[in-house]
Amino acid sequence: MEHFAPRVGIVTGGAHGIGRALAAEVVARGGLAVLADRDDEGARTTAAELTALGPGRAVAEHLDVADSAAVQALVEKVAAEHGRLDLMANNAGILFSGPLEEFTDHHWSTAIDVNLRGVVAGTRAAYAVMAQQESRRGRPAGVILNTGSLAG
Ligand SMILES: NC(=O)c1ccc[n+]([C@@H]2O[C@H](COP(=O)([O-])OP(=O)(O)OC[C@H]3O[C@@H](n4cnc5c(N)ncnc54)[C@H](O)[C@@H]3O)[C@@H](O)[C@H]2O)c1
Repeated sequence: MEHFAPRVGIVTGGAHGIGRALAAEVVARGGLAVLADRDDEGARTTAAELTALGPGRAVAEHLDVADSAAVQALVEKVAAEHGRLDLMANNAGILFSGPLEEFTDHHWSTAIDVNLRGVVAGTRAAYAVMAQQESRRGRPAGVILNTGSLAG
């Protein structure tokens, strides 16, 4: 990974925490980090802060990863605008904590939609783009990075 310098990367949940750190690394390596987050203000603030650090830049895009059509649309838009997608970091995740007996079906559906289906949607959309683009050796090229959790 030392030599990995993505020109274009999408980081879901890139406004805060681990996603912010991943996006900062993309920008530090000279790339464009697309911060795809449901927290619009947080994503805009982080994008401005990372761009100020450079040498790459970051932009904010609204995304709820539970909306698979929106994930697909964003991946296609970024690939069309920039001609490629080198990194898809499926990082957005949520954690409910508390007494198990208090978790409702809504809690479970939300956790599965974000933490599982969100990763599936991002992987499927990015793979389709990456399989069509070539590395210097002429092979399909791109990195899909899924942030996991022991909580899973
Ligand atoms: N922090 C830890 O100790 C830890 C440990 C293990 C795994 N993880 C995993 O790392 C990932 C990031 O965790 P973090 O600690 O940085 O969390 P965080 O809460 O600091 O950041 C999560 C980001 O994801 C965004 N987000 C949440 N739901 C979203 C959705 N539906 N669509 C788009 N964006 C959404 C939030 O707005 C936020 O910017 C998660 O997948 C989490 O499960 C974290």
